[in-house]
Amino acid sequence: MSQASQRVFSGVQPTGNLHLGNYLGAIKRFVAMQSSHECIYCVVDLHAITQDRSVWGGPEELARSTREVTAAYLASGIDPAAHIVFNQSQVAAHSELAWIFNCVARVGWLNRMTQFKDKAGKNRENASVGLYAYPNLMAADILAYRATHVPVGEDQKQHLELTRDIAQKFNIDMADACTEAGYPDGFFPLPEPLITGPATRVMSLRDGDKKMSKSDPSDLSRINLTDDADTIAKKIRKAKTDPDALPESMEALKGRPEAANLLGLFAALQDATLETVLPQFAGRQFSELKQALADLAVEKLSPIAGEMQKLMASQDHIDAILKDGAERANAIAEPVMADVRRIMGFVR
Ligand code: TYM
Repeated sequence: MSQASQRVFSGVQPTGNLHLGNYLGAIKRFVAMQSSHECIYCVVDLHAITQDRSVWGGPEELARSTREVTAAYLASGIDPAAHIVFNQSQVAAHSELAWIFNCVARVGWLNRMTQFKDKAGKNRENASVGLYAYPNLMAADILAYRATHVPVGEDQKQHLELTRDIAQKFNIDMADACTEAGYPDGFFPLPEPLITGPATRVMSLRDGDKKMSKSDPSDLSRINLTDDADTIAKKIRKAKTDPDALPESMEALKGRPEAANLLGLFAALQDATLETVLPQFAGRQFSELKQALADLAVEKLSPIAGEMQKLMASQDHIDAILKDGAERANAIAEPVMADVRRIMGFVR
């Protein structure tokens, strides 16, 4: 497939604080894809409401958070004129295709989703049906644009595998109709997850075995994109360590999750690899790494926080970008949906 026929799609939920994991695992990599691909970046507000209102915060908070994720995209360097930035609920294709995928995906497939188990917790009976069917909506997000490449963090890998299973089952179940509609090789591409670089799974600063997450009750566990320089430095200073000096080799990094996490963060912020960063700190104390990491994090993140603040002061500007992006997204998704309806036999 030529690069011209490759299309990138990815999304971020407007729930809670955006953190360094979202930035390094996703947004920074979205920015990098722009020079080589046609990209569509979505603020997935329909996904946000799958959890309790106490989690997504209600209408005012959802709107604020939708604009904040948009501001983070723009402040990080996503170009909404050259590419597409929009919020999911403005393009009806996502919900329509998700329903069709509810009828393609199998209950057994969804029962295996670890993120549902984590988010639903012990009280699974009381989770929303939306939270359970969430991966089908995610598949619809991607496939409504027949996107081929999806940059995400490691925690989304299983959802991407499910997306491929859904695309494949649709293509097989509807093979005759796909051929009839002019797609003898199947209508949907099987999208490739892009999970690369030193920060695909950024860990909590308080516990190197736990993922950095929006929902961690301790704010010290994560660096938020809106944190000021002092807060960033303080959180890194307080980050959990182990008692040994920093390791000399990748092999010696095994079993030292805090060291791996802080070195990985340093590498990702510096656009380097873990292998090249390791010798810089080999045999040194954690305090030296922490100082260097705090300086680098402040240097890279402060301009983004400043720009986000400016953008957030101009709500109309953000809303206009989302509206324009939604119109352009719809112009791609609508012909895809027209084909899907024809393939399914929905009379128009
Ligand atoms: P969300 O909003 O939880 O996270 C957004 C992106 O950030 C990545 N990420 C991380 N990367 C590294 N380390 C971490 N600690 C970390 N935490 C989060 C996530 O992997 C993700 O790439 N279901 C998705 C949003 C979504 C989507 C899509 C993504 C909806 N539709 C279609 C791609 C394509 C989610 O909840 O991401």
